[in-house]
Amino acid sequence: MADLVMVGAGPQALALSCLLLQKRSRLHRRLRIVDPSGRWLSRWQRQMERYEIPWLRSPFVQAASVEHISLPANGKGPLELSLSDGTTVQAGRVVIATGNGNPQLPTWSKGIAGEAPADAMQHSDGIDLPALRLRPGERILIVGGGLTSAHLSLGALRRGAQVQLLCRHSLKQKPFDADPGWLGPKYLKGFHAEPCMRRRRRLVLEARDGGSITPEAGADLREAQRRGELQLHEHCEVQSARWSSGQWDIFCGGGQQLAADRIWLATGHRQGVSQQPLLQQLYKQHPIELVDDWPVLGPDLSWPGTPVHLMGGLTALQVGPAARNLFGGREAAQRICRAVVKH
Ligand SMILES: Cc1cc2nc3c(=O)[nH]c(=O)nc-3n(C[C@H](O)[C@H](O)[C@H](O)COP(=O)(O)OP(=O)(O)OC[C@H]3O[C@@H](n4cnc5c(N)ncnc54)[C@H](O)[C@@H]3O)c2cc1C
Ligand SMILES: NC(=O)c1ccc[n+]([C@@H]2O[C@H](COP(=O)([O-])OP(=O)(O)OC[C@H]3O[C@@H](n4cnc5c(N)ncnc54)[C@H](OP(=O)(O)O)[C@@H]3O)[C@@H](O)[C@H]2O)c1
Repeated sequence: MADLVMVGAGPQALALSCLLLQKRSRLHRRLRIVDPSGRWLSRWQRQMERYEIPWLRSPFVQAASVEHISLPANGKGPLELSLSDGTTVQAGRVVIATGNGNPQLPTWSKGIAGEAPADAMQHSDGIDLPALRLRPGERILIVGGGLTSAHLSLGALRRGAQVQLLCRHSLKQKPFDADPGWLGPKYLKGFHAEPCMRRRRRLVLEARDGGSITPEAGADLREAQRRGELQLHEHCEVQSARWSSGQWDIFCGGGQQLAADRIWLATGHRQGVSQQPLLQQLYKQHPIELVDDWPVLGPDLSWPGTPVHLMGGLTALQVGPAARNLFGGREAAQRICRAVVKH
């Protein structure tokens, strides 16, 4: 039996492992990390390579994913995890750090008329810029407004594509997702003093204020606009799209009609308990308070009444707007580490 199992080997789980091993080096024999890649940071490295991102704002990983989590029947004894390789692992404590939820797909993209090829419309998760083969002057329409849409636009432009970037609001430029005041007491003090979880959720959403791009990416996009290679459509929402005669006909609000060879959806991810199979299973076995699908966790980021802790975006009601970023991983690691070493 392991003292602690971490589900996922991304930056969040790595932050916790490093901290725990600094505090309790003998824990390395009792710690187990499960990730289908069998490596640390595999999704992180893949997403950096695929979008050609040039800058950044252990123990033992075993190669499998966790498919099922069972809490002990009478509330006492170890938890049981069923792995994709058919084995089961018992653990005294589990940390779930499985990253983003499912891709967020616009409603119009789900009911498309016409027989489009599989790669004619893709969510950003499926795009691998270095592996992309484009025809000269290929027209790519990118829906987004966050930093992923900016990197994909610039990557497509470097490959000679004609790019149209569609944002449902105006394209916002900020150095970070949220004001740096959210990385310290300036704003977090008031946030932690707020007893109403619904108001905390609103504060998180207001602080991030949707997607945004860095000023550096903004300057590169403006330069491409000046060269006539990029068209930026702000306050523009797609109503429907149709694959016809080998191209997309795209119908937007206000009667605007656009054409493209490919559509890329850089529309982010859906964050919520219902978006993660392991959390759905936990919720069925041990329901807790949710605020619009976000869990109300304990201060140590535990699923209340269980020895299961969460890391990542779904800790936002406790950690604040930076929960899904690297800062959030450090904060979550400190909170969970305190709970682990106390025992
Ligand atoms: C392109 C991109 C760039 C980013 N750049 C930054 C940045 O510069 N700064 C910043 O602060 N934030 C950044 N972020 C946001 C965030 O920090 C990253 O998404 C980061 O990877 C989140 O770390 P994580 O450990 O929560 O998740 P992930 O890196 O997604 O790791 C989760 C791991 O869990 C594993 N897993 C999933 N399900 C299971 C299962 N059932 N069983 C076992 N393992 C499982 C996955 O294989 C994966 O390895 C970026 C996000 C993206 C998409
Ligand atoms: N290090 C890097 O260089 C780097 C690169 C990429 C990403 N990141 C980080 O990764 C995280 C995720 O970034 P992301 O860009 O993938 O996601 P994101 O920040 O959540 O942005 C998603 C964008 O999609 C738009 N959108 C969502 N649903 C839509 C719909 N139905 N129709 C039209 N538009 C829709 C949103 O619009 P609204 O704004 O109107 O809500 C938002 O602008 C962020 O923290 C980001 O900073 C970092």
